[in-house]
Amino acid sequence: MTTPESTIVPITLRPIGIIRSPHRDPAGTPIQPRYAEGAVGRAELLPEYAEGLQDIDGFSHLHVLYFMHRAGAVRLMVKPYLQDTLRGVFATRAPARPNPIGLSIVRLVGRSGSVLHLADVDMLDGTPLLDIKPYARRFDVFDVKRSGWLDEVDSRRRTADGRFDEGGG
Ligand SMILES: C[S@@+](CC[C@H](N)C(=O)[O-])C[C@H]1O[C@@H](n2cnc3c(N)ncnc32)[C@H](O)[C@@H]1O
Repeated sequence: MTTPESTIVPITLRPIGIIRSPHRDPAGTPIQPRYAEGAVGRAELLPEYAEGLQDIDGFSHLHVLYFMHRAGAVRLMVKPYLQDTLRGVFATRAPARPNPIGLSIVRLVGRSGSVLHLADVDMLDGTPLLDIKPYARRFDVFDVKRSGWLDEVDSRRRTADGRFDEGGG
């Protein structure tokens, strides 16, 4: 049984801060933190949320959730950055999704008050920050058996314009 459309209501989110990053052009931006090694950025939380960062320093990696505010029109079929084949958007990480929420697992390198210093960022500068959660070996590491169409793709690094990126991200 499907959910009646009338029970789905809009949700309003207020960003908790902003992401600062060296990436200003979507085309040259790494497509995942794995390909963004060394790219440093910051999560600047509103000061009212600083208390909520207590105890975060003990984690080497964080899940960062954000709003991909420069995503283009929604497309349900997309060609992923890593393959020239149309795929269902929910089987990809493409930004052109109905709710353009980005999820990046980045390294936490330090904190100054309500500012988190991050490494391996794949977000654009000025991206609205929605949430931060600790990445934990206990919860988040799985012995992955299948990665769908990604299992067909070679392991070379690429940027969002499809270029092979053999440099520093
Ligand atoms: C493939 S998406 C993956 C993002 C995230 N790691 C994920 O899996 O949800 C990465 C690309 O999104 C684009 N991007 C990053 N921040 C964005 C933003 N705020 N608005 C629109 N596009 C963004 C960049 O072009 C980057 O190469």
